[in-house]
Amino acid sequence: MRLRSTLAPGALIAWIDPPHIKQAVLNLMLNAVQAMAKQASGSPRELILKTAQGVDEERRSVAVLHVIDTGPGIPESAREKIFTPYFTTKSGGSGLGLPTSRRIIEAHGGRIEVHTEEGRGTDFVLTLPCERAGGERAD
Ligand SMILES: Nc1ncnc2c1ncn2[C@@H]1O[C@H](COP(=O)(O)OP(=O)(O)OP(=O)(O)O)[C@@H](O)[C@H]1O
Ligand SMILES: [Mg+2]
Repeated sequence: MRLRSTLAPGALIAWIDPPHIKQAVLNLMLNAVQAMAKQASGSPRELILKTAQGVDEERRSVAVLHVIDTGPGIPESAREKIFTPYFTTKSGGSGLGLPTSRRIIEAHGGRIEVHTEEGRGTDFVLTLPCERAGGERAD
């Protein structure tokens, strides 16, 4: 399994509760690793972390974090349920990882979205309010 990271240049400054945000991101990374663990060893297995600065619909500055995997994707039938507490497709799973991550991100005024394609992988996108990047060049 390969870990690849593409980080935004410069600092993204957001007011967060570090242990909770760490928990939220860790849940997503664990899901990504677990999703790829079942795959045939020949197929590419990549966990990709990307950060960027962006703006939301209200043009507020946001920090964006993608947790991407090249796993099996989430079947249509499960997509509605993955954020519901106790929904799990894993033996021994609690089904609390994603609802917990969502609760934490929303408590920070952020959002969590998912893009997934069966057979290709999944992209969980976390968006958190952040400070606008300073020092933009005028030229
Ligand atoms: N990256 C992913 N790829 C494919 N399926 C996923 C992915 N992330 C989540 N899922 C699906 O969503 C379900 C719910 O995830 P969630 O993290 O809430 O619980 P869990 O991983 O099953 O259990 P726990 O997090 O308590 O170990 C998973 O069982 C799985 O079916
Ligand atoms: Mg989980």
